[in-house]
Amino acid sequence: MNSLLLLNGSPRGERSNSIKMLERIAEGWRRKGGTVEALHLARRDQFARAVTAFAEAETVLLGMPLYTDAMPAVVKEYIEALMPRVAAAKAGLRNPTLGFLVQSGFPEARHSRPVVRYLEKLAARLGSRYAGTIVRGGGGALEWMPEQANKKLWQQLRVLGEQLARDGQFGAAELKAIAGRERLGPLTVMLATLACKLPLTQSMWNKMLKENGVWERRFDAPYGPAFRP
Ligand SMILES: Cc1cc2nc3c(=O)[nH]c(=O)nc-3n(C[C@H](O)[C@H](O)[C@H](O)COP(=O)(O)O)c2cc1C
Repeated sequence: MNSLLLLNGSPRGERSNSIKMLERIAEGWRRKGGTVEALHLARRDQFARAVTAFAEAETVLLGMPLYTDAMPAVVKEYIEALMPRVAAAKAGLRNPTLGFLVQSGFPEARHSRPVVRYLEKLAARLGSRYAGTIVRGGGGALEWMPEQANKKLWQQLRVLGEQLARDGQFGAAELKAIAGRERLGPLTVMLATLACKLPLTQSMWNKMLKENGVWERRFDAPYGPAFRP
């Protein structure tokens, strides 16, 4: 029976948007009769299992949010822990088929493209078959959107899960459809810029800063001249 190793690279673990999306892909995989082992890289006990499970897996799907234009640190740590598998591949050992999910807060797909290029290269270095990367912007909205509003997205993800199980890769047309727009039009950019200046938008960010206890430190510039030794 086909088994899928599903890895959630979000530091927010069980309550992340990444796992919500990954679970739908897993549903598609199971529809084709496969089994799934799901692990959260942010959970230290599960991190160690994720490293050993990689060597045993046939197919691995690694999902992550975009954090400051890159992958979260825990994903980078995991990739570094996989480096012995690069040596293993060079010695002729087999590594699993690799697919990825990169989801971001900003809606433009092109925001995630540099990370996608990195992941594609990673699969090549590991000698893995590259199943493709699902890119999806606007992921932050999953937290407050009513379940009904995500119906189409969930269905798209299930279909991608089925394709992974059946073909060992995601369909090009489905990847393009789920990524949506690579770049927003000038009018949308103008409206979004204006919206960012509204007191309502500002109060939303301020609320988050206060909730996270960093309001007093909001103007910190750790790489600025005042902080240089
Ligand atoms: C520290 C941090 C950095 C982020 N950086 C970006 C970014 O550079 N670009 C972006 O589009 N979204 C960014 N986001 C938004 C997340 O990608 C988005 O909310 C995502 O859905 C979070 O997924 P998660 O719940 O799986 O962690 C950032 C969020 C956080 C908390």
